[in-house]
Amino acid sequence: MQSLRVQLESYNYQYYVLDDPSIPDSEYDRCLRRLQELESQYPELVRSDSPTQRVGAKPLDQFQQVSHEVPMLSLDNAFSADEMVDFNRRLLERLGGTQSTLEFACEPKLDGAAVSLLYHNGVLVRGATRGDGKTGEDITQNVRTIPSIPLRLRGEGYPAELEIRGEIYMPKAGFEKLNEIARSRGEKTFVNPRNAAAGSLRQLDAKITATRPLEMCCYSVGLVRGGELPEQHADILSLLQTWGLRINADSQVVTGIDACDAYYEALAVRRDDLAYDIDGIVFKVNSLALQDRLGFVSRAPRWAIARKFPAQEELTQVLDVEFQVGRTGAITPVARLAPVFVGGVTVSNATLHNMDEVARLGLYIGDTVVVRRAGDVIPQVASVVTARRPEDASPVVFPQSCPVCGSVVEREEDEATLRCMGGLICAAQQKAAIKHFVSRRAMDIDGVGAKLVDQLVDEGLVKNSASLYSLEPEQLLSLERMGQKSLDNLFASLEVSKQTTLPRFIFALGIREVGEATALSLANHFGSWEKLVSATESQLLEVDDVGPVVADHLLQFFASQTSLAVVHTLRQAGIIWADIDVVDSGELPLAAQTWVVTGKLETLGRSEAKSYLQKLGAKVAGSVSARTSCVVAGPGAGSKLAKATELGVEVIDEAAFIELLQQLGAKE
Ligand code: IVH
Repeated sequence: MQSLRVQLESYNYQYYVLDDPSIPDSEYDRCLRRLQELESQYPELVRSDSPTQRVGAKPLDQFQQVSHEVPMLSLDNAFSADEMVDFNRRLLERLGGTQSTLEFACEPKLDGAAVSLLYHNGVLVRGATRGDGKTGEDITQNVRTIPSIPLRLRGEGYPAELEIRGEIYMPKAGFEKLNEIARSRGEKTFVNPRNAAAGSLRQLDAKITATRPLEMCCYSVGLVRGGELPEQHADILSLLQTWGLRINADSQVVTGIDACDAYYEALAVRRDDLAYDIDGIVFKVNSLALQDRLGFVSRAPRWAIARKFPAQEELTQVLDVEFQVGRTGAITPVARLAPVFVGGVTVSNATLHNMDEVARLGLYIGDTVVVRRAGDVIPQVASVVTARRPEDASPVVFPQSCPVCGSVVEREEDEATLRCMGGLICAAQQKAAIKHFVSRRAMDIDGVGAKLVDQLVDEGLVKNSASLYSLEPEQLLSLERMGQKSLDNLFASLEVSKQTTLPRFIFALGIREVGEATALSLANHFGSWEKLVSATESQLLEVDDVGPVVADHLLQFFASQTSLAVVHTLRQAGIIWADIDVVDSGELPLAAQTWVVTGKLETLGRSEAKSYLQKLGAKVAGSVSARTSCVVAGPGAGSKLAKATELGVEVIDEAAFIELLQQLGAKE
């Protein structure tokens, strides 16, 4: 049992702290099960620091209070490079000219909840929230469920009593997933990863905490008794890492305030790509001796400062809620906002997703709301400040008929989405369908942009993709901003588009749920349009990617006279493609295999690599799972490669891949 405990803790450490697992999950699970078996056989030998004991205690009625012997302080903020220069000057002055330049530890300021972990002789005995800095709450049972927190310190040399401090946070991906699940169940969502982390930590039932994707990153120590620590802050953190705690891999020690500025700028660029939210950078004087000399003011140390990034959340007012009709008739409520600068851009619209989301937010027109824009994610209304609701606020009323064409609106079973049933008589759906048809991955007609499509439909010149090809130059010259040059360009690109491929054509038709990959599978399976339109449901279901829902959408399309008439007109207009030789995919060398391509492929490029794989019968997936047959990884491969290694999936480089293609006769 002891050796299993040691082994499992070491696997946990590699996986959660170093991000570098050495064994597949299956092996980990086997060890854990074996230990569980032994523990149920010999319950008297179960120890509180066993890896099996991370969740187990009964739910609490309330949290006990904890007093922090060494207070948990806060940080002063700086909002500009100038304020950093002031900070540096204050430090040098206070050190009485004994120093000409200072060494700083630079650390991303994680946006989560501050916690204190107390270890007695290396065993975790208490976890606590910061509270007001003097008194916090005892959340020991909850922190024990977090895999990156060791129940027992590794190695040796740690002080007999050691309090470690850091931030518990929820990585962005875990946060999105958690909210997605909540949304699908009609439950309340979390406003941001910080609230999600704090809320998850303060659960009276640790079993709930255990299901939340939380991580801990350490940034300092509090109480230290019965032992010595190094003289530099960064060295202490490195030591913590050897004892099994997680520290931020992006931390760095620099000299002088200009270097702090450079660090800040470099991280600002990477902010959106980080796996977790940060709201700034913390700069700390690295020498503990100097920290001591500098001391504290009321609630913050003089030797540290947090330089904040521009906010990703702001307050603004909802001026109105409008309804947009998409390509498939889905009606989406969109909040029109009083313009607000958030996450680096001015935001004046935010999607409200669907009726359920509006109900969940409890949103009224006129409300003040928290708008959140993190990274490239589209702006969201995160929550409503109900206390600021004006008297004349009005509820959001969903349309009884399509706001664009007046057709009936239906709410499909199990769907939060309202849909306009007008199909292609709806101008909004016409526009969206044509924009899809001309888009780059469909017919690639670059002379026809989104604005032009709106104009053409509004002027009644075009009502579907086919009518694009019967446009006459004279009809267009009257349009705003239409010069001879754009006209030539338009007709030239229409002409070029006529020579296309079957998969592009199928994709361009915009059949519901038929994306690029499905269109390709359909084309390869049937080889010609004639075979495809005359396929029965069971024949459609034979195609990879095609399930009952997609089959149903396809059959509806093929049964619609209007749709078939559009296809007919398109072909009359001269759209052509080469039919595809159909090979029984079961006989292809990579049939039934799923491959993933990641990183940069220098010779082939990723899309060429994918098309080779598809020709050989393999399915190409976007993510790695236990069912992945093989991963082709080039330079720069990241999480997918890591996942493959973790799962023990075969990984080959580009050279090996090309060799395989040559062996299979797919490439010269
Ligand atoms: S040091 C005495 N380092 O920011 C210094 N704090 O605004 C105390 N935080 O309560 C904190 N990352 O929750 C420190 N690398 C970091 C941090 C960090 C995030 C949080 C922490 C603290 C708050 C202060």
